[in-house]
Amino acid sequence: MSSGPPGTMVSVGTHRLHLRCMGSGGPTVVFDAALGGSAISWTLVQPEVARVTRACAYDRAGFGWSDAGPQPRTAGRIADELFTLLAAGHETTATQLAWAVERLRRHPDVLSRLVDEVDAGGSDLLQATIHEVQRNRPVIDGAARQVIAPTMPLGPWVIPHGYTVQVDIPLTHQNAYPDPDRFDPDRFLEASPDMYSWVPFGGGTRRCLGAAFANMEMNVVLRTLLREFRFVPTSARPERTHNRGVAFAPKDGGRAVVYRRIHSARSGEAQKHAHASV
Ligand code: HEM
Repeated sequence: MSSGPPGTMVSVGTHRLHLRCMGSGGPTVVFDAALGGSAISWTLVQPEVARVTRACAYDRAGFGWSDAGPQPRTAGRIADELFTLLAAGHETTATQLAWAVERLRRHPDVLSRLVDEVDAGGSDLLQATIHEVQRNRPVIDGAARQVIAPTMPLGPWVIPHGYTVQVDIPLTHQNAYPDPDRFDPDRFLEASPDMYSWVPFGGGTRRCLGAAFANMEMNVVLRTLLREFRFVPTSARPERTHNRGVAFAPKDGGRAVVYRRIHSARSGEAQKHAHASV
């Protein structure tokens, strides 16, 4: 019996990782085996997910069939990676989703159009809404860079070596858009945002590493929420902004009153009315 890898070995520059993919379509679901496991930890789950989309499992460097990575796996490095995932990855995206709920409950017209679009299988307005939530309520307030050259020309100014320049993300969004306080996803319906005036993920070479992933997460979560629940609109004032340490969140948590939507067994379509309160 062969003991070769069930998937393929993929070079990531300094070493090779073992990757096993199956299924087709998008989005691609990636299975990560923790606690010293390998891609085969997902043997039962991966084929099920691969029925509906492309599903890949891989072995972390130094585990399963993957080569050891260039860096030692120390407790400090693992803690560092975990912190990045939780602070940069989880807190930001979850907070942005809380703002999406806060915004949509206060804009019933957009909410109703979104529900119609999701039921019809579309996604243009949903994508535009995600862009507009991030413009109107960015969760990170700035991106900073330190000048390492002897000087840096910036418009009419010359910034000396060692100084830090910070872009104010909310202010950029205020200045670059007409009627900036208005929550209006239609501004992004026809055209994608401009990368110099829409900067919730920062910009340039150090732009957020997880931007595409975060966008996909928000798309999947919002689509699921709209399909499964009816959100009760509110005429309450917009929630104030509250700094939770990493991200700027809705002060009252973006809480919502929702009812589960009833799905027709035959068509799988959700009905507009709803019964059980959640
Ligand atoms: C709505 C969600 C998110 C927002 C608003 C956000 C925002 C940001 C911002 C503003 C920066 C600084 C960029 C710059 O300096 O130009 C950043 C950097 C970063 N983000 Fe995100 N982020 C989000 C989600 C994520 C996710 C899901 C991940 C990982 C799974 C992630 C990983 C990172 C990393 C590793 C950096 C540092 C990049 C570097 O310095 O090269 N972020 N993010």
